[in-house]
Amino acid sequence: MTELKSHADRLRASRLAELVDEPGRHDALVFEKAGLELDLTKQRLDAPALAALVQAAEAQGLGERRDALLSGGIVNPTEGRPALHMAYREGANIAGSDQAELVARTQAQTRSFAERVRSGDYRPSGEPIERIVNIGIGGSDLGPRLVADALALHAGSGPEMRFVASLDPTDLELALSGADPRRVLFVVASKSFSTQETLMSAEAARDWLAGEIGSEATGAHFIAASAAPDKATAFGIDKDLVFDFPDWVGGRYSVWSAVGLSLEIGLGPQAFADFRAGARAMDEHFAAAPLGQNLPVLKGLVDYWNRTMLGYPSRCVAAYSARLGKLADYFQQLEMESLGKSVNEAGAPSGTPGGALVWGGAGTEIQHSFFQWLHQGPDTVPVDFIGIRRHFGSDDPRERALAANMAAQGAALLAGRQVDPSSEPELAAHKSMPGERGSTTLLLDDMQPGPLGALIALHEHKVFVESVLYDINPFDQWGVELGKVLTKGILDGEVSRYDASTQALLKRTGFQTR
Ligand code: F6P
Repeated sequence: MTELKSHADRLRASRLAELVDEPGRHDALVFEKAGLELDLTKQRLDAPALAALVQAAEAQGLGERRDALLSGGIVNPTEGRPALHMAYREGANIAGSDQAELVARTQAQTRSFAERVRSGDYRPSGEPIERIVNIGIGGSDLGPRLVADALALHAGSGPEMRFVASLDPTDLELALSGADPRRVLFVVASKSFSTQETLMSAEAARDWLAGEIGSEATGAHFIAASAAPDKATAFGIDKDLVFDFPDWVGGRYSVWSAVGLSLEIGLGPQAFADFRAGARAMDEHFAAAPLGQNLPVLKGLVDYWNRTMLGYPSRCVAAYSARLGKLADYFQQLEMESLGKSVNEAGAPSGTPGGALVWGGAGTEIQHSFFQWLHQGPDTVPVDFIGIRRHFGSDDPRERALAANMAAQGAALLAGRQVDPSSEPELAAHKSMPGERGSTTLLLDDMQPGPLGALIALHEHKVFVESVLYDINPFDQWGVELGKVLTKGILDGEVSRYDASTQALLKRTGFQTR
């Protein structure tokens, strides 16, 4: 770590605008794999610092930790589980034999069910399905929602996909607006099958459907994706319509499993398989490539570097594609639920800051909202520019303009602008921009299932890499529990031990207990 700190001091004192001109920088800091290109040339970093980062990761046992992850070791000790979501990638063969069998069985079941629905053969009320409503939250929502948006043009003639996550009744209302009740299929996605938001929305959906077609006819309109199949059947879902997965698939890593069923139906099994195949290509690269050439390792090291050595508390995800409008939300859960922790596996203070705050949106729209702050605000925030390589050479002028905007923003953050006060005495200070702000550029060859799968897998693994350096368990999320317990207390009217402010709020607003 001392060596890393001295590299950080050296690089903080140097000019980024000069660093990017150094010969050999492109060869040392641009990497390609699985339909993705990772360009680190605009980061406040150079080859010697990167080599020191790789060494630090080796010293922390990253190689061994990675092998333990991929071979099904208990990498989530607080819940006593491995984290084997990679077993669901297309053609993967990394789980133990029992587990591989379970994965293969459920994959065959979801594929055949998806084909039945898409072909119009599955007719719960005598009519083919036209609309899928995915009811879930967190990992049971963000993954399917991101991918449905990203690959919307691959859906062909599949049923349209709608998503309900919120307890606000209008969310379900809008998802059902204009729907023919006989042609709707509800996918209740919940790993635990005990999440308040999901269960309340699923009950409301069932009441709506019963009101439309009669309660005896609702059964086959509900299917479930869950690691708690007994709870799903207790809820009233036919056991043949419950698609299960093991508890070693974490919620925020579950889009590859039966939780992706809405996608497998809506986009079709082939597009879903291609998406999983892209992720597998990234897994294989992560497993085999030397750490210094390994994209998830490098991405994790750079994000660690920015957070820990350069002290930047947040990272902005700027996705230059309308199809990736949900990417920042998805990464927010993946990274912040995984890395927002302060103790190590033994429960002692980790002594590290944990992962950065992740935020962002889709370009160019964000240039007209928060980019002012990025360019001239006092804080430096590293930006991940995520775009489509094909756009750069496109015949469509709008795609070329989109690519040009992305490249220009990275250049502007880097170079800034010094306006000469003698030419504009009153406005020079207002128009000047400090520059010297670093970014990463990540390009997908095209908006296709494979590169998208690889992009998500890259981020899953880079979170793991960071967790090793931060010395925390990335696979649990105990911090979300207290809010759930306190919500129950409020609903049950047991608030006498709550703080005075909360009690007063509930009294003032006439809160109704259940
Ligand atoms: O927010 C906590 C959390 O447990 C997430 O990790 C998970 O993705 C989400 O809730 C939904 O959980 P479930 O899939 O069990 O309904």
